[in-house]
Amino acid sequence: MSIEIIDHSYDVVVVGAGGAGLRATLGMTAAGLRTACITKVFPTRSHTVAAQGGIGAALGNMAEDNWRWHMYDTVKGSDWLGDQDAIEYMCRSAIPAVYELEHFGVPFSRTEDGRIYQRPFGGHMRNFGEAPVQRACAAADRTGHAILHTLYQQCLKHNAEFFVEYFALDLMMDSDGTCRGVVAWNLADGTLHRFRAHQTVLATGGYGRAYFSCTSAHTCTGDGNGMVARAGLPLQDMEFVQFHPTGIYGSGCLITEGARGEGGYLTNSAGERFMERYAPTAKDLASRDVVSRAMTVEIREGRGVGQGHDHIFLHLEHLGPEVLHLRLPGITETAKIFAGVDATRQPIPVLPTVHYNMGGIPTNYHGEVLRPTAKDPDAVCPGLMAIGEAACVSVHGANRLGTNSLLDIVVFGRAAALRAAETVKAGTAHKPLPKDAADLGLARLERLRTAKGGRKTAEIRLEMQRTMQNDAAVFRTAKTLAEGCAKMAEVAASLANIQLADSSLIWNSDLVEALELENLMACALTTIVSAEARKESRGAHAHEDFPNRDDATWMKHSLAWVAPDYKIRLDYRPVHAYTLTDEVEYIAPKARVY
Ligand code: FUM
Repeated sequence: MSIEIIDHSYDVVVVGAGGAGLRATLGMTAAGLRTACITKVFPTRSHTVAAQGGIGAALGNMAEDNWRWHMYDTVKGSDWLGDQDAIEYMCRSAIPAVYELEHFGVPFSRTEDGRIYQRPFGGHMRNFGEAPVQRACAAADRTGHAILHTLYQQCLKHNAEFFVEYFALDLMMDSDGTCRGVVAWNLADGTLHRFRAHQTVLATGGYGRAYFSCTSAHTCTGDGNGMVARAGLPLQDMEFVQFHPTGIYGSGCLITEGARGEGGYLTNSAGERFMERYAPTAKDLASRDVVSRAMTVEIREGRGVGQGHDHIFLHLEHLGPEVLHLRLPGITETAKIFAGVDATRQPIPVLPTVHYNMGGIPTNYHGEVLRPTAKDPDAVCPGLMAIGEAACVSVHGANRLGTNSLLDIVVFGRAAALRAAETVKAGTAHKPLPKDAADLGLARLERLRTAKGGRKTAEIRLEMQRTMQNDAAVFRTAKTLAEGCAKMAEVAASLANIQLADSSLIWNSDLVEALELENLMACALTTIVSAEARKESRGAHAHEDFPNRDDATWMKHSLAWVAPDYKIRLDYRPVHAYTLTDEVEYIAPKARVY
């Protein structure tokens, strides 16, 4: 097909308009850089809108707190896979970041004396692990909604340029390995676009939809991860997939951990508050991997609730209608709609559900994407940045603490903007693009658009989702992982036999889903292959044949490269076992108990 391509030149292009993409777009535009934000959905429909319970910062509004305690909790939560320089940067920046959001206009809930309201959240403790602390700054249980809308309004105030319902196909890479921009498809009118930029920032979110049951929106398809993999760059720590303890049984919709922060608790079929056995200090507010595993054990050992003894109850009835109305209105409504339950009177049926990807595109704490080499594991890929859930900074390591994702997106969205303002001079002319710069993306679009195989996108997707759900779950074994790898190799191979109903370039949702499926496939394969290789248990990777953490062999980041035939190559890079400044000491590994 010969198609006209529309060219654009910007100083910076941001792909994705969730919290990370908008914070970066805002910072870059405000710094005088000509910035385009490309997004496949309208900005305020991005998945950040679904974040509920809060954003973590040691403001100390409700009780004494300290950013060093927040750092300690984050390192411990990460099961010592997090990079401590980046964790220090995030936890120390959290306090000004939240006040900045307040000044931007985020309508935080308030204490009696008018300060930002804070609630406890899993794994956030006072004084280096002593007892839960109130650190989650909340706008009722709609914190992500409040932040996303505020950031979008700030972007509009600064006249940021948006390309809405444009689907980014692939990166444009130069022969010297520099990223020169991105090629995108306008879903509404079918036109194709080359966006040239001195920095391309991937803020495309996670890939929850690689699994059958997740709290993520249907749009969470790892698009940036797919683009990076096709550009020959590695993905990092993909085996670490977070299961949120309280997805609604059946639908997977999120019931915020803030519900337990407000005093909610879990029970088994005997009515027992079983978390007291698994985490005597933090109980229901232990970190997510710990609670999800405990729930899974209760169900496995026959103490699940309901007809099939296959889920757990979350109790909020005792909190009373006033607290539910004031602090948890969103989840009260969600429980009614998706579980048919009146949370003021009945427990909510819940089950651990895929929620977050700790792994992603490796970056440093400036948001610059890494292209690790044997000589330099921290080498940077020029012209390319990644932030938010798409990235692996790595501040979450093997397990993220609740509230640290909203924090991650605003802190590293801002950091990327600061770095771009340092490294890009506004208005700098672009070198001519290599002739074939857009070929990767355009060929992919054309191949899928005209695909005449025998298998529907939805069939292949379902096979992938079921395999990942069964074989890369809360608990993993050598057997399930090996079977999962073999099955996923078959599922990926079947992409060659995909069939599309419609070859149109205008509002072709079938084509969008096929493009997304290729991105998901790269994520799913790197997840299960990296998991199969990691012979230890750490954070969210609970390997039953290797139940202990093995720091001597495995305190290292996994790197996974995806070949065009979906073969995966693995390598490793060291964890940053040092802090950023001498204001805080390196936190040495120890047993992780709550
Ligand atoms: O439970 C929640 O409100 C989710 C928050 C998070 O993932 O940080």
